[in-house]
Amino acid sequence: MVDLPSAAPQPLAGRVVLLSGAHGGLGAAAARACAAAGATLVLAGRRLPKLNRVYDAVAQAGPEPLLYPLDLEGAGPDDYAELADRLQAELGRLDGLLHCAAEFRGLTPLEHLDPAAFARAIHVNLTAPWWLVQACLPLLRQAPDAAVVVAVDDPARVGQAYWGGYGVAQHGLHALVRMLAAELAGTPVRVAGLQPGPMRTPLRARAYADDLGEDLRDPEAYAGACVTLLSAAGATHRGTVWDAAAGNAAP
Ligand SMILES: NC(=O)c1ccc[n+]([C@@H]2O[C@H](COP(=O)([O-])OP(=O)(O)OC[C@H]3O[C@@H](n4cnc5c(N)ncnc54)[C@H](OP(=O)(O)O)[C@@H]3O)[C@@H](O)[C@H]2O)c1
Repeated sequence: MVDLPSAAPQPLAGRVVLLSGAHGGLGAAAARACAAAGATLVLAGRRLPKLNRVYDAVAQAGPEPLLYPLDLEGAGPDDYAELADRLQAELGRLDGLLHCAAEFRGLTPLEHLDPAAFARAIHVNLTAPWWLVQACLPLLRQAPDAAVVVAVDDPARVGQAYWGGYGVAQHGLHALVRMLAAELAGTPVRVAGLQPGPMRTPLRARAYADDLGEDLRDPEAYAGACVTLLSAAGATHRGTVWDAAAGNAAP
């Protein structure tokens, strides 16, 4: 008798997961890992050609995904409501939302920041993610074990000089994760933050030109943490921000 290799575990089998920022560094790595873990993904992103490339990789790794063009800058509450309606109509369920979209345009002193740029950074990095989560909550509440996972940056770093609206918004996201988790404590919807360590992505490159940090990793290093938080195993991180580089809950 031949020993066949055992199938890889699929902790997200049967789950539908909406992923924002799906063609970003962390988003694309998480998409592949979630598909390999069995999830049916809805890949949301603002650039269709890049989204199509992620689609191809995801379709090879797991269940066929769906694409959803979405620009957080221009979308309003009605657009998020329409997204939730389409998920309900086409997939009938939503078990997870992984938010990986973020915009950072470079280090600038607050005093010299274009007022419109500050407002845009707060909108794209804080208001829009909340509108997205809020619109999806009714659908998530219907799932037996649902997860909202928000990628967040290190508040100690982005609270320093020159991180502008992005840094301010990240502090807001940390608060949002904990506040929403407390409000949803008695429901099937788990809320957690994922704080990866420094990653080689376009976002990071806009802050550090010659980035030689010893703790710098490819985003694939944190894709497994995304799967964990979206799966039943994520229950241990409920209501916390997981400092995935250190392996601890962030303070
Ligand atoms: N990189 C790090 O060192 C690091 C460290 C800690 C935490 N994080 C967090 O990790 C998450 C992922 O970041 P990343 O490093 O993977 O950055 P990234 O590669 O730049 O990906 C960010 C994604 O967000 C998308 N995005 C930006 N503005 C958008 C908008 N208006 N509408 C829709 N999508 C938009 C980008 O689209 P385009 O490709 O079109 O720009 C890109 O796909 C973020 O939450 C970030 O705060 C990153």
